[in-house]
Amino acid sequence: MLTERAFAVTIHPMQRESAPVRQAAPAGVSDFPEGVSRGPDGVLCFSGVRLTELAERYGTPLLVLSEDVARAAALRFIDAFRRAFGPRASVSYAAKALALPAFFRALADLDLSFDVVSAGEAAAARFAGIAPERLRLHGNNKPDAELRMAAAGGVGQVVIDNPEELERWIAMPRPAEPPVLLRVAPGLSPDTHEYISTGGRGGKFGFDGPSGEALRGLLRAYAAGVRVAGLHAHLGSQIEDVSIYAASLSYLYDLRRHFHERTGVWLEELNIGGGPAYRYTEERALDAEAWAAEVARAEREAAAGQPPARIGIEPGRAIAAPAGLTVYTVGDAHRVPGFTPVVAVDGGMGDNIRPALYHARYGAARVEGEGPVEVCHIVGRYCESGDVLITNARLPRLRRGDRLAVFGTGAYTFPMSMRYNGVPRPAVVLVRGGEHACVCERETEEDLLRGQRLAPWQVP
Ligand code: LLP
Repeated sequence: MLTERAFAVTIHPMQRESAPVRQAAPAGVSDFPEGVSRGPDGVLCFSGVRLTELAERYGTPLLVLSEDVARAAALRFIDAFRRAFGPRASVSYAAKALALPAFFRALADLDLSFDVVSAGEAAAARFAGIAPERLRLHGNNKPDAELRMAAAGGVGQVVIDNPEELERWIAMPRPAEPPVLLRVAPGLSPDTHEYISTGGRGGKFGFDGPSGEALRGLLRAYAAGVRVAGLHAHLGSQIEDVSIYAASLSYLYDLRRHFHERTGVWLEELNIGGGPAYRYTEERALDAEAWAAEVARAEREAAAGQPPARIGIEPGRAIAAPAGLTVYTVGDAHRVPGFTPVVAVDGGMGDNIRPALYHARYGAARVEGEGPVEVCHIVGRYCESGDVLITNARLPRLRRGDRLAVFGTGAYTFPMSMRYNGVPRPAVVLVRGGEHACVCERETEEDLLRGQRLAPWQVP
């Protein structure tokens, strides 16, 4: 006979979590993220647009993007690096963070180029009116077709990731001969989640630096007549400490010197990649000014005797994350005595996989105003125990029908969204100084079934 004692009583990990309870709901207006404020009626606004109005008009879950915040964030990097390096600064937006045409367009008139990692992202950029010369094609194991597109002038620069890719590049006709950067793994690992650390040795990205593979790659490319413009090292993402970029730049200047010793050629560009951290909750944001200053300092030491190179950076998250928030509608709340209440919203891991994948933390606030605070876990609607958006959130006691805004969701949420459990992907709205427009429609069940059919033998 089954009795209670036949089983060990287990507690869901979400309930075991002992992390300090943080203030997920900002206490005062001044604590809200950039662009977020409370209107006179207590309703939360983003770029001057009331979120209740957006929720009613477009439904939830809803990703709201602020053009104003995105541009301000991009300008911080552009201004800081221009001040430090003048015309030698080359700032790109890493579009994998959010590659919607409307987002490209929001940044299009700034002094930026754009990293894309597939023909699909390149197409979104072109759709937004970005000229191919402003695109840089990245990625490991690029399909031949994408390399051919690049070789024909579909992008302005290509990052070659590894020796085998280099051989494929050398072997193909390259009518436009776009300039190439060689991606190097210098063996530097930042203090970040292991899934988003990319500069270490033996990983999936880049020519290995310390073994000499990178220098051999450079020499091979040069001898084969490839137009080698420089070197690239992206160390990882959500990096809080600027000093690792100094180490990386020194490494790249060294490699450049070795290449010059062998060929007499100075490479034009050294690109230190992206990765500056965004402050989701308690992290330290990597300040653009501090980043530029540290890289300039490192350059003064590392570049001794070399003509200065063009210095490239390519932040993604730090531009897109602050520009987005997600509005959800609260559904069932479950309160078991002795446990932290569990409050479900109408989205979750389908529209934001980051908490489940990287234990990412987010701040949130009730859209309709403050109230007496309760600590609760915000969970999603997906059939997974790990579908938890925020643990130990301090929020006004939430009731069915309330709206919840989760902040900082502009980067790596929508592009990583999925249709698990047959839930269509959310809509995206762009806001700007009080205006709003839907820039990506909510998917429908019809969209989910697009291209699906029964096999001929299943049809009666
Ligand atoms: N450049 C290269 C070559 C990259 O691979 C990346 C990001 C970036 C620039 C931009 O890094 P960011 O500034 O955004 O940190 N899905 C993960 C992040 C993956 C990052 C992939 N590469 C997340 O949600 O945290």
